[in-house]
Amino acid sequence: MVNKREIIVKNDHEQTSTFGAFLIEKIIKQNQNPTANIALSGGSTPKLMFEKLAKLTKLDWENVNIFLVDERYVCTDSKNSNFNMIKKHLLNNIDIPSENIKNIKYADDIDESVGKYKSMLIEQFSLTPEKPYPVFDLIHLGIGADGHTASIFESQKVNNNKLIDITKGEKFKRITFTYKILNHAKNIVFLASGSEKKEIIKKILEKDKRYPAANVENDGNIYFLLDKKSAALVENN
Ligand code: 6PG
Repeated sequence: MVNKREIIVKNDHEQTSTFGAFLIEKIIKQNQNPTANIALSGGSTPKLMFEKLAKLTKLDWENVNIFLVDERYVCTDSKNSNFNMIKKHLLNNIDIPSENIKNIKYADDIDESVGKYKSMLIEQFSLTPEKPYPVFDLIHLGIGADGHTASIFESQKVNNNKLIDITKGEKFKRITFTYKILNHAKNIVFLASGSEKKEIIKKILEKDKRYPAANVENDGNIYFLLDKKSAALVENN
């Protein structure tokens, strides 16, 4: 059962990104006891928010662990890697210990990448059969125009008995959190902007379960950060 479901619409992408940066700062500060565990998504929409998160907020990054929600299965230095985007727009601009950065490391065998990332989750969250999934303080998610989120696509089922699964994106194989992680987060922050998202945002907010983003139902707080263009078909906006 979601505690709080909030739709926040700002005038434009810049204002949405600024609001998102300060919301993430607030959530982290509420949970830094002693360490906040957050997970970030890739794509293009969050670039400005990550830059603002680095420049405008005052956070003790020593007590923050940053995981990736998903990754394209590409070489470490690929410009298509979510990690390289997050590094460029956030990690290179904050003072965070390298051991706090938990990225999905490329290996020649994709199952090896998955296995190593799963081990990082088990270690960080001290998972056991009695405690089978991590509870993130914050998970940031994007929404594709096709309704995907993380790297969970409408045409593909993920195995929610696993923490992480492999899917097939348009160009690359993907490694992604499943709902087993997403739906146990204390706070989910969706960020979407631009008129090309207005139809899918309407469907997601109407909980059209055909679309992966509409199946994210955590037992915490869920925020939809939108600009006016992406919220154009949403009532009262
Ligand atoms: C990825 C992301 C993905 C992204 C959406 C939205 O690997 O691409 O994790 O889930 O958040 O595709 O992407 P845009 O912000 O580029 O529209």
